[in-house]
Amino acid sequence: MSETSIQPAKHGLHGTIAIPGDKSISHRSIMLSALADTPVEIRNFLPGQDCLSTAAAFQAMGVDVVFVDESKTHLTVTGHGLHGLQEPPHILDAGNSGTTLRLMLGLLSAQPFLTTFTGDASLHQRPMGRVVKPLSQMGAQIYGREGNTKLPLTIVPAAEGLHGITYESPVASAQIKSAILLAGMYAKGDTTVVEPFTSRDHTERMLHAFGVETEKNGTAVTIHSVRAFTAPKSIEVPGDISSAAYWLVAGSIVPQSELLLQNVGMNPTRTGILDVLKAMGADLTYENERESGGEPAVDIRVRTAKLHGTAFGADIMPRLIDEIPVIAVAALLAEGDTRVTGAGELRVKETDRLAALEEIFTRVAPGSIETWEDGFVIHGGTPFHAAACPSYDDHRMAMSTAILGTACAGVTIENGACVNISYPTFYQTLASIQK
Ligand code: S3P
Repeated sequence: MSETSIQPAKHGLHGTIAIPGDKSISHRSIMLSALADTPVEIRNFLPGQDCLSTAAAFQAMGVDVVFVDESKTHLTVTGHGLHGLQEPPHILDAGNSGTTLRLMLGLLSAQPFLTTFTGDASLHQRPMGRVVKPLSQMGAQIYGREGNTKLPLTIVPAAEGLHGITYESPVASAQIKSAILLAGMYAKGDTTVVEPFTSRDHTERMLHAFGVETEKNGTAVTIHSVRAFTAPKSIEVPGDISSAAYWLVAGSIVPQSELLLQNVGMNPTRTGILDVLKAMGADLTYENERESGGEPAVDIRVRTAKLHGTAFGADIMPRLIDEIPVIAVAALLAEGDTRVTGAGELRVKETDRLAALEEIFTRVAPGSIETWEDGFVIHGGTPFHAAACPSYDDHRMAMSTAILGTACAGVTIENGACVNISYPTFYQTLASIQK
C-alpha cells in the first residue's frame, strides 16, 4: 500500500488555489440532471471517486453521462425524464460514498425496478437503517444485512407506490433529509422532514434549479408530489468549502503564509469552519463575492495568525461536521484548549473519526488529545515530533494529517492516496504552495 511522505513547511505557504467543485453539489447535479429529459451541461464537477461512483450508477441506468474533457470536470448528462431510469444490468457499486448510497436509496425506492447496491469495506460498516427506516414508512421495500441496515441492500419496487410522511429525524443529516425528499418527489401526498438542526440544503437548492419548490418552516422541509420538472441548460458547481478547509487551516497556522483561495462555496449551512476559525483569531478576508450555480461563492485570502483555543457543540455541528479533523489540527497549533462536544456523528463517518483523531494526535503530539463518546479536547501547544500515521483509508483523515505534518515536524501517511475520494489534486496543490 502506498505511503505518502509530508515534509514540514520551512518558508511558509504561498500562492493561489482554485478550489475544486463541491462534492455534495456534484452528486446532486448528476442525480437531478439524470431525471430530466433535456441535456444538462455541468461545469466544475468534482472528479473525485465518490462523484464518479454516482456517475457510473446513473450510466448503468441508461443515463447518458459524457465527460467533455480529460480532467472530468466538465460533462453533459442526458436523461429520459422523471420516469425514464432503467433497471441496471448489474449490481451498483457506491464505493466509499455514503452520499451516493443514501440519496440513491431514496430515489430508487420509487422506481418500478429492482436494484442492489454494494460498496467498499468502509461503506459496509456504515449505518443505513437511518434512511431505510423512514423510506420503509413511506412504503419502500429495502432488504439487506443486519435487519435491512447494512450493505448489500436490495430495493424492490414498492407494491403500492410511496406515500408522503412526516419524519422527525433523530440526527441532523442532509443525507437522511435528501433521501426522503427524493423519494417524496414520487410519493402520493406531501413529505416533510424535521431535523434537530438544519443540515446542508444543497438538495433543496438543486431542486429549485429544476423548478421543484420545497417549503421550509423552521427546521422542517416539505416537498409535494412532483409533476413538472424543468432542467436548467447548465450548472456551475461552486468550490467545496470542505476542501478549502485544509488551506484555511494551513494558511493560518504555518508561519509566514498567505494564500488566496478562489471560488469557495459560501452556503450558510456549510460555513461553520469560518465562524470557528474567526473565533480562534484567524485572519480571513473575503473578496469578489458572487453567485455560482444558485449558491453564494467568494475568494478568501488567509494569512498566518496567532490562534487561540475555542469551544463549540451540537448546534454548529451540521455546518462543519466534515471539517472537524482539520479544525483539530488548528487547535493543536493554537494557544490553550479547544473543546468540541456533540460530535457523535464522527463515529459513523468513513471511519470512526474520533478514534482516528485520538490515534493520530497521540502519535504526533503525545498527550495532546482526550476523547469521549461524542467529543474531544485538544491541548494547544503540546510538543510534537515526526510520526508515521494511519489514514484509515479515510480521505479527510489523510488530508488533515498532511496539514498536521506540514505545520509540525512532518508525517508519513499510510495509503495517503485515498484523498482521491474527494480531492484528487490535493498533494500537487500542497507541493505547489510550499516553494
Ligand atoms: C453530505 C452530508 C453529510 C456530510 C457528507 C456529505 C451530503 O453527511 O458529512 O460528507 O452530501 O449530503 P450526513 O448527512 O450523514 O451528516
